[in-house]
Amino acid sequence: MVDIEKIKTGIPGLDDITMGGLPKKELVLLTGTTGTGKTVMSTQFLYNGAKAGEKGIYLSFEEPEAYLRKSAAVFGWNIPALEKKGLFSFLRYDPYRISDVLDILESEIRGTGATRAVIDSISALGLYVRNDAELRRMIFDIALTLRKLDCTTIITSEIVHGKPGISRYGVEEFVADSVIVLYYERARNLAAFNRAIQIWKLRGSPHSNKLHSYTITGKGIEISKEEAFIQTTV
Ligand SMILES: Nc1ncnc2c1ncn2[C@@H]1O[C@H](COP(=O)(O)OP(=O)(O)O)[C@@H](O)[C@H]1O
Ligand SMILES: [Mg+2]
Repeated sequence: MVDIEKIKTGIPGLDDITMGGLPKKELVLLTGTTGTGKTVMSTQFLYNGAKAGEKGIYLSFEEPEAYLRKSAAVFGWNIPALEKKGLFSFLRYDPYRISDVLDILESEIRGTGATRAVIDSISALGLYVRNDAELRRMIFDIALTLRKLDCTTIITSEIVHGKPGISRYGVEEFVADSVIVLYYERARNLAAFNRAIQIWKLRGSPHSNKLHSYTITGKGIEISKEEAFIQTTV
């Protein structure tokens, strides 16, 4: 069978359940409720790439870059050292001119030759635009722009807890070639919450169809081969 080209994320277990990593130069939607680890996983993806010499760009609509640097340091990821080497950069944008953010992202990716990018999160982008229609148009434009570039991109999207569906605006999953869902839910008859990850779709590639358990430790995200038991809302 001919499989499409993939890039290794370097995130323990993720390259196994995706059978080789994320589809190269494509868009991946990473979705889940708050606290599931979307920001940790996105940072880990860029950090691992940068350590191997692949330039990465982080566009954050959620956390300020100083906070992201600080929380990465807790995992032992030295972002400032990579920034100095030009292997990692945070994209600066003007919230009052949010319509320009795509042009800035495109020129930054082209200018630096970045091969990995993260947009975190598309839901927080909603704070800066006037209405849902405008946000949907922006999501489509982001996807169109990124498709032209030689970059593998993770776009995060926040699900509202208890609401069915894997995206907030109902369009995010249609613009992405691949969708990964993170859960943090209570298992049936258990008091504790469990973490679980599902590869929802992976364009042109086989992947695990299991719900896998994962942990966030002092080293970041680690995905297990074991099946997870949770009550999902979707
Ligand atoms: N150093 C750490 N050790 C263990 N768990 C951590 C650490 N840092 C963060 N976490 C876990 O990750 C969660 C936050 O993940 P985050 O990526 O910010 O979520 P999201 O972006 O999906 O809202 C925290 O609630 C905590 O459970
Ligand atoms: Mg986050």
